[in-house]
Formats: sequence, C-alpha cells, structure tokens
Amino acid sequence: MQLDKAIQNRHSTRKFKDKKPDWRDIIECVDAMRHAPMAGNNFSLKFILVDDEKTIQKLADAAQQDFIKQAKYVVVVCTDSSRTINAYEKRGEIYCRQQAGAAIQNFLLKIEDKGLATCWIGHFVDRLVKEALKIPNDINVEAFFPVGYEFKLRTRQAKIDLDNVLYFHKFKNKKMNVPQKLDI
Ligand SMILES: Cc1cc2nc3c(=O)[nH]c(=O)nc-3n(C[C@H](O)[C@H](O)[C@H](O)COP(=O)(O)O)c2cc1C
Repeated sequence: MQLDKAIQNRHSTRKFKDKKPDWRDIIECVDAMRHAPMAGNNFSLKFILVDDEKTIQKLADAAQQDFIKQAKYVVVVCTDSSRTINAYEKRGEIYCRQQAGAAIQNFLLKIEDKGLATCWIGHFVDRLVKEALKIPNDINVEAFFPVGYEFKLRTRQAKIDLDNVLYFHKFKNKKMNVPQKLDI
C-alpha cells in the first residue's frame, strides 16, 4: 500500500469481527515501532502482546470501554524512561512521550497496511492496567491497542483544514511570502 493511502485511510475502529488475526501480522506491526526516531537512539519502549481473554477483559474494565472485549489481541505500549532521563534530565520525559507517539503512528500505519484495525486507547486507570499485566511502577503505560478486523468499514472522521493550522514565518501569520523572481 502506498504511504499516502495508508495515512489517509487510517482510522479508529471500535467494532471488530470475530475472526482472529494471525499474531505474526501483529508482530510485524509492532516491529514497525522499532524504526521510530528516538532521542540519542535510546529505545525507550516495551511492548506486551495480550491474547488471554480474561486479561483483555481486565484491560477493557480498566478503560471502561466495552468494545475492547471484542478484540482477540491487545498490544500494550510502555515506556522505560530511565536511560532517556539519565541522558537528557527533565526534557527526557518530553522526549519519551514524543517518541512513543512517533512509534505508535508507525504501528497504526502498518496496521492499516496489513488490512487490520485498531483504536488508540489512552483513557484508562493506570493502576488497573499495571496490575493486570504485572507492569512495575517505574514503567509508564503509554496506551494500548485492541487489534482485529473491522466489522464494517466506517467512513473516516473529518480532518481539520491545513489552512486552520499552518502559519508562515511567525505564529498566526497566514500569508506566505512568494519568493521574488530573480532578474537574470
Ligand atoms: C492520545 C489519544 C488517546 C485516545 N484515547 C482513546 C480512548 O481511550 N478511546 C477511544 O475510543 N479512542 C481514543 N482515541 C482515538 C481518538 O478518539 C481518534 O483518534 C479520533 O477520534 C480521530 O479519529 P480517527 O482515529 O478515526 O482519525 C485516542 C487517540 C489519541 C491520539
């Protein structure tokens, strides 16, 4: 699939078919996260692939989002920020959040490329997710992702116009200076 198509077609899915995906396809999507840029090339992420029905139920409860229970797999993305904070102190925290986002976008695009579907789950009770997965306290849970096949292709959410968010040269300036023609 072309990059533009994957970017434009990616969308959140909250209704999955019963069909179980091949876990190797999901591993390929997780592998795409390894290629994300990382400050100082310190890889800060850890991943957990969950397929146990009861554990998935606990994750759905932790998020209070029932649709997660339909998924046969959930990918959990965690951060171990220790090395990045050692290297960059307070900014290291920001870098860890940013690089988790960069890695997750790789994952989402690969999910789209593979014909799979998911939804970014960022709203959950941290403690409950950590208890369900035995995640130590010093590890951050960034988000998790129920993975399956989309039940019915949904139309994409409208996206903001570029005009509303792009400035030129300084904040709020909407006018682009057209380069002067060279008089040769
Ligand atoms: C940081 C973050 C947290 C999110 N948390 C949730 C969530 O807990 N539950 C949910 O259904 N969607 C969640 N979403 C998905 C957004 O609602 C979704 O991306 C947005 O509505 C745009 O739709 P699209 O992904 O189809 O383009 C989250 C997205 C992001 C980036």
